Amino acid sequence: MSGFVLWLTGLSGAGKSTVAGLVANELEGRGVTVERLDGDIVREHLSKGLGFSKEDRDLNIERIGWVASRVARAGGGVVVSAISPYATARRKARSLAEEHVPFIEVYVATSIEECARRDPKGLYAKAFAGEIPEFTGVSDPYEAPENAEIILTTEGRTPEEAAAIVLDYLVENDLLDPAEVSA
Ligand code: ADX
Repeated sequence: MSGFVLWLTGLSGAGKSTVAGLVANELEGRGVTVERLDGDIVREHLSKGLGFSKEDRDLNIERIGWVASRVARAGGGVVVSAISPYATARRKARSLAEEHVPFIEVYVATSIEECARRDPKGLYAKAFAGEIPEFTGVSDPYEAPENAEIILTTEGRTPEEAAAIVLDYLVENDLLDPAEVSA
């Protein structure tokens, strides 16, 4: 198969990692070589020590974009989940990937209100209390994608349904064999 980069962007708590995990599992189960690059994990290794200034976030995204393009060029399906709040950094990651493979930007468009209501890590409560500086969507910008290939609403939809939309897109664009999608 040919590689691709599936890039999930959205606020913290939007559901990026959950959907990315489901999509990656489904692909893997069908024999596709998959690598996941999740912001939280990358920050424990490749981007250890980086913070959340614009400069550090851009560097984080540049690193993820570079690795993603290399893995995809070698034939892997790469599933990225990172806030990636800045349009320019996402555009750079796209250009790098598109030298070799398709880049599919997935905007996980969960509203800030819903993310704060879910607050899976308790970070919004702290951010609203002023305890976390530069928190995306609260005291730091999030530039919503204007040309995402997929806009994924997670509200009123199960994570499995959201993952199915992404998998359908891959099939429709000849990046996944239709027989490889379970009914
Ligand atoms: S990115 O902006 O550089 O793309 P990334 O996806 O790697 O961010 O990491 C985001 C995760 O870091 C969040 O899910 C959250 O758990 C944690 N985090 C800690 N501080 C912040 C902050 N100030 N803004 C956003 N996320 C933060």
